[in-house]
Order: sequence, then structure tokens, then C-alpha cells
Amino acid sequence: MSEPLYQAVRGTKDILPEEIGLWQYLESSAREIFHLFNYKEIRTPVFEETTLFARSIGDETDIVGKEMYTFMDKGERSLTLRPEGTAGVVRSYLENKLYASGQLQKLYYVGPMFRYERPQAGRQRQFHQLGVEAIGSDDPRLDAESIALCLALFTQWGLKDLSVQLNSVGCAICRPDYQNGLKNFLKDHVSELCEDCQKRYEKNPLRILDCKSTHCQAVLKNAPSILNSLCDGCKTHLTGVEKHLQGLNISYELNSRLVRGLDYYTRTAFEIQSPHLGSQNTIGAGGRYNNLVEQLGGESTPAVGFAIGSERVILALQEMKESIPLGEGLDLYFVAMGEKAQEHGFVLLDQLRRAGFLADMDYQGRGMKAQMKQADRLKAKFTLVLGDYEIENSTIQVKNMETGLQEMISLEGVIPWLMENMGAHEDHCHSCDCGGHCQHEGE
Ligand code: HAM
Repeated sequence: MSEPLYQAVRGTKDILPEEIGLWQYLESSAREIFHLFNYKEIRTPVFEETTLFARSIGDETDIVGKEMYTFMDKGERSLTLRPEGTAGVVRSYLENKLYASGQLQKLYYVGPMFRYERPQAGRQRQFHQLGVEAIGSDDPRLDAESIALCLALFTQWGLKDLSVQLNSVGCAICRPDYQNGLKNFLKDHVSELCEDCQKRYEKNPLRILDCKSTHCQAVLKNAPSILNSLCDGCKTHLTGVEKHLQGLNISYELNSRLVRGLDYYTRTAFEIQSPHLGSQNTIGAGGRYNNLVEQLGGESTPAVGFAIGSERVILALQEMKESIPLGEGLDLYFVAMGEKAQEHGFVLLDQLRRAGFLADMDYQGRGMKAQMKQADRLKAKFTLVLGDYEIENSTIQVKNMETGLQEMISLEGVIPWLMENMGAHEDHCHSCDCGGHCQHEGE
């Protein structure tokens, strides 16, 4: 084929059929675990009014300042492709009055996010998050539960060697004092900071703390710790989170430099890192945002959540050479030779699928040998061969692709034969979640 006319836009990637098994596995196992923790799915639009993100994430953050995909629609509205999920979920919580029941809302989401960042391994412009938001409680058990849930997902996927970094970024009572203290400490060193941090010094000094530049880190060596400036409420909350993490046997590291790039955090901020990724080693991150609901027009409502980057999970698994058994491969491949056999085979194929077998046949006019090769390529457990001879004698040839054993059986008896020889129906009923009790066999 000639060079394609178009390529996927920089920073975006196709997820191809050969990779999709892993994605589907990640997402379906995440859904199961979210349900175990009593989270319900919420789906919000991929674009929202631009000001929603500016107001939630913060005007001075990199995300809002440099990374948003913002456009005017035909009605002259400024819209933005969501760079993260929290703002949209809180908007929906308020708009749909999810607070009205008075119940804690435990919500999860799975989907694409968009940030105009410099693409590299583990960093894309369209990427995917699995996230949760628990809105309506300030209980430190919920912060510990969020971290536990995040780790439960990673454990399920076989990720190892993870580290949990925990901090408290304080609240509206104690943070301003700390910010002033930090600015005071840095005031004679501003020119030594990187260009970004020189701007942050005025507008968002806390972000200087987790700048990756070695110069900035050297300047910060003896900087005051936010943990020494927490008010009593924040201190007690952090002690509570730590106690509950210890109760759950979760190891963590207190990291007073952890700030995160979203301004809505109050109190708890956490990150989970994997050593099996390059510089983009944060695989999941989150924290508490007790002021966001109020900031977006609601009553003061505490909340906590996190999001995991799916691409990073997949990269870490590949890096660890961890293979997840994905149950791929066909049950049956139909090899039909001649027009009559193809016609007959086409109907039988339909019956086999109704009986719950994952089955396919050739549609490209291949010869017998090429069809057998295709059965191999598709990892079929059995091949069914039907030609003129078989049709005349009302038989069909069945070949077990693992043992190579072949058998001639009656055409009529092929479905019961396969049921018996491929194990119980429930093992391979792909039509539904019947556990073997559906009527697919009888159809
Ligand atoms: P975040 O730290 O901005 O938090 O993103 C969460 C995760 O998304 C990151 O740890 C990373 O794994 C992944 N991620 C972020 N940007 C990219 C990118 N450009 N390419 C690939 N993966 C990326 C949030 O988004 C918050 N909304 C999390 C949260 C929910 N906090 C409270 N509730």
C-alpha cells in the first residue's frame, strides 16, 4: 500500500485490535473493583464550558494556562475538551442535585482526557483515566479508602514495587501563612529559580515545591515544610489518614514537597508511583478538594478522589513483561470448500454462535491450506471442515488443533459433540453472562 494520506494527530494514538484485550481487561476489572467499593459510574460530556475548568483547576496552573484544548463553537461559546474528570463530575453533581438525597455520592468514570502537553512515553495529548470521586464527607477513612482502592486496582493488574507519596497541602486557614513563609524563604533566590518557577513565585508559589529542576530543588533544600504549618484541623485530619492507612497495612511516605498541578486540593494530596516507568512515573494521583463544590456554586461539601492514567498502567505492565491471560482465540474456525459447503457452513456458523461458540469462517475466497493456516493464526481450538463429500454424506470433519486428532461426525450431531468435547457450555458462552443457564443451546 502507498503512504497513508493522514496520520493520527501528534500526541494521540490508535488502540488497535491486538491491544484492545488488555484495555478491556483493565476497564472491566476496574469496574468490578469500583463496584466492590460501592462506586457507581457517571458519564459526563467530554467538553464543558471553559470557565468550569479555569475556576476549578485554577487559572494559574499549567493545565489551564498552557494545556487546554479550547475552541469557540458555532454559537460563539468558549468550550474546552476536558483535561481531567473532577470538574465535570462536580458540575454534574450540582446540576443534577445528586446532593439532594443527603447521601455520600461515590462516583467513578472511565474515559479520554485531553491536555496539550509535550508528548513522550506515558504522556499523550489524548489519554485515558479511570477515576473516582467521593463527594459529601470529610472523614479521613475515605481518604485512606481512596488510596486503598487505587492500590487494589494496581494489585489486581499485577503491578509491583509501587510507592505511595502522601502530603497535606493544608486549607484556606493555614495555607496562606505557609505560602508567605515560603515566599519569604525564597525571596533572595528568585533569580536562581527556573523560568517557570520565577513566574510561580508570584502566582502559585506552592508549585515551586515539586518542580523537577535540580536548580530549584537545590534552592529549596532548607525550605520550610508545609507539615509544620498545618492548622489543628488539617493536622488532626492528616493524623487520621495516616492511622487508617496503617490500619490497612498500607506503606506510604510522607512527602512535604508533594503539591500536584491542580489548585483545588485541600488537606490530603497523594501520588502513586511506579519505578517501571521513565520520567512520567506517576501512575495514579488524587486528593481531597473540600472547597470545590462551594467554588462551583454549591453548599460547602467535602470530597476526595483520584485518577489513574490507563496508558501508564499499560506501559508499566509491558515494562515488567507482565502478561495477563486474555482468553483470546476462537473456539472454532469453519473451513468450507466449495459453494454448497460455504452456503451450508454459513448457516451452521450462525447456529454455532447462537450455541455460544466464538466462531468464524473465511470470507476472502482462500484455498483449503490457507484456511487451515488462518485457523492457526486465529488460535482456534477446533477446525470444522466441510466440503462436497461431507455434504453428500451429511458429515463434517472436526480437527482438534491442539492434539491434531481428527474425527468425522454427523452434521446433525456437531453441536452436541462440540458441547461435550469443549467442556461445559458455561466455559464458552460468549453470548451473555448466563453462567451456563441461558437458552442459547436450545435456540
Ligand atoms: P492528575 O494528576 O492531573 O489528576 O492526573 C491523574 C493521572 O492521569 C496521572 O497520575 C497520570 O497517570 C495520568 N495523566 C495525566 N496527564 C497525562 C497525560 N498527558 N498522558 C498520560 N497520562 C496522563 C487529575 O486529573 C485529578 N482529576 C485526579 C483527581 C480526582 N483528584 C481528585 N479526584
